[in-house]
Amino acid sequence: TTPLRLGIAGLGTVGAGVVRIVQRHADLLEARSGRPVEIVAVTARTKGRDRGVRLSQYEWEDDPVALARRDDIDVFVELMGGATGTPKEAVEAAIAAGKDVVTANKALLALHGQDLAEAAEANDAVIRFEAAVAGGIPVVKALTEGLAGNEVTRVMGVMNGTCNYILTRMQAAGLTYQEVFAEAEALGYLEADPELDVGGIDAGHKLALLASIAFGTRVDFDAMSLEGIGKVSIADIEQAADMGFRIKLLGVAQMSGRGLETRMSPCLVPAASPLGQLENAMNMVVLEGDAVGQIVLQGAGAGEGPTASAVMADIIDLARGTRLSTFGQPAAALKPATPAAVSTP
Ligand code: HSE
Repeated sequence: TTPLRLGIAGLGTVGAGVVRIVQRHADLLEARSGRPVEIVAVTARTKGRDRGVRLSQYEWEDDPVALARRDDIDVFVELMGGATGTPKEAVEAAIAAGKDVVTANKALLALHGQDLAEAAEANDAVIRFEAAVAGGIPVVKALTEGLAGNEVTRVMGVMNGTCNYILTRMQAAGLTYQEVFAEAEALGYLEADPELDVGGIDAGHKLALLASIAFGTRVDFDAMSLEGIGKVSIADIEQAADMGFRIKLLGVAQMSGRGLETRMSPCLVPAASPLGQLENAMNMVVLEGDAVGQIVLQGAGAGEGPTASAVMADIIDLARGTRLSTFGQPAAALKPATPAAVSTP
């Protein structure tokens, strides 16, 4: 059988994690896909660095765009991160060359996902991004496959581990925002630009994507009402606790008469609820469908294993022959998020 051939761009935490799984689970991947999954070539910013995985058997490309276009790869796996510049160019190059793309790049997708998916469709290529939303939690698969028979009524959740870590540590240990921020930094949870985390922007990117998938609408990051956790004080947290609540950075997306409403902001949730009990850097997504009712998914939203797990799920799907993008329907058919204004007499 013909192998599925991968080119991997980006060998940071997630990229190295994907290489590790491909090497460790080669037999299992072949059994589940019906064909071998092979890495052909890789690229990263620095070549020599020890990443704890053997890379010498793969071809090295210095230029991600050149890797994306290689004739001998079927799937371009983009794990560089960043919404502009090389990652975007490389994904565009892969699509233009008719390659399928798997990426964890939530910022790129929240801003350009629809255009990229439409370009992919026009080129018989597929773009998949399970790993871009809530890391290891298979929430995209839950929506596009498990709940495919439902009209989704609401999607909400905690989608930034850093913010949840900061808020739960402030509450449990009585530490200041600054003290816990330093802890989170030391644990490696933060984005390269921490404002993306604490400003709610990273979580907003994820919610924008999730809302688009759940409601079949265009991705509209700019329409989201967005507030981070920078103004939450210990006094706020203690007062909420006295009343039986926790403060969480909660994203909510739901349809109303005015169209899709999406907001990301610090919210009070009952302390005894699943969201209220969510600790440390965990993520949680609550999905509501007209047939299924409510389901709650919890897990690690970041880190090597969890994120690589989600990337592998997309790779295996492609190996099995899926031609479905992560939007769960043709991107060109996504509806506007806001219905056209109805003129009243
Ligand atoms: N900085 C992100 C978080 C990483 O803390 O959740 C995963 O997207």
